[in-house]
Amino acid sequence: MVGISPSEAKRFYDGFGARQDAQGWYEHPAIRDLLDHAALADARSLLEVGCGTGRVAAEILTRDETANDLRYLGLDISETMIGLARERLVRFGPRAQVFRVDVAATDGLPVADGGVDRVLATYVLELMRPDDRDRLVDAAAKALAPGGLLCVVNLTEGERGVARLVSGAWRRLVDLSPARLGGCRPLRLAEALPRDRWEVVYRRVVAAFAVSSEVLVARPR
Ligand SMILES: C[S@@+](CC[C@H](N)C(=O)[O-])C[C@H]1O[C@@H](n2cnc3c(N)ncnc32)[C@H](O)[C@@H]1O
Repeated sequence: MVGISPSEAKRFYDGFGARQDAQGWYEHPAIRDLLDHAALADARSLLEVGCGTGRVAAEILTRDETANDLRYLGLDISETMIGLARERLVRFGPRAQVFRVDVAATDGLPVADGGVDRVLATYVLELMRPDDRDRLVDAAAKALAPGGLLCVVNLTEGERGVARLVSGAWRRLVDLSPARLGGCRPLRLAEALPRDRWEVVYRRVVAAFAVSSEVLVARPR
């Protein structure tokens, strides 16, 4: 079975909680690269799916002066994560809102069509079942305003050497027990996005300590 269900994700991340932030040793370089290529200075609103503890939101909202009127909406299925994100983001006042939502649900994202400038997902899409992920990507296309961007980081296959061995070993381990390991399985999102509906404007594989992440910015066609 590839990916985990929303209820399995909720159970895992309710228990994992703040330990998510300890993954920064391999996640930070890729997240920084994404933020450098997400053209955030041009965005007035950002929706984050699977916001976790709110660490990426806090970085975005404090990052620079141009973010001062950026409105942020974070969604996560885990009550633990929602509590941690609200605590972390309270200092940004009404600019930052966080709600418990299953982003794999069939009724789409809780924003108007064309209502947001950026949809952000870091280390989320690779834990979802392919059908759930496809539905979420379609919902993101609907939610994005003209010129809007889907901004993603996910675990991916290493391109060579030790990084390739590490991603292969991790994939085999997760396949043995996806729900117990949080489901995160290396993904090549650029290959999974339908080409007739998405234009990839930036893609890079960033390896940190032999763990590889795919950084991807794409716009709906
Ligand atoms: C690996 S964590 C990443 C958290 C955060 N994006 C980060 O980079 O620190 C994955 C997050 O996705 C959330 N998640 C998983 N499936 C979800 C779903 N169906 N709806 C909303 N959130 C979900 C989990 O609760 C968890 O907080």
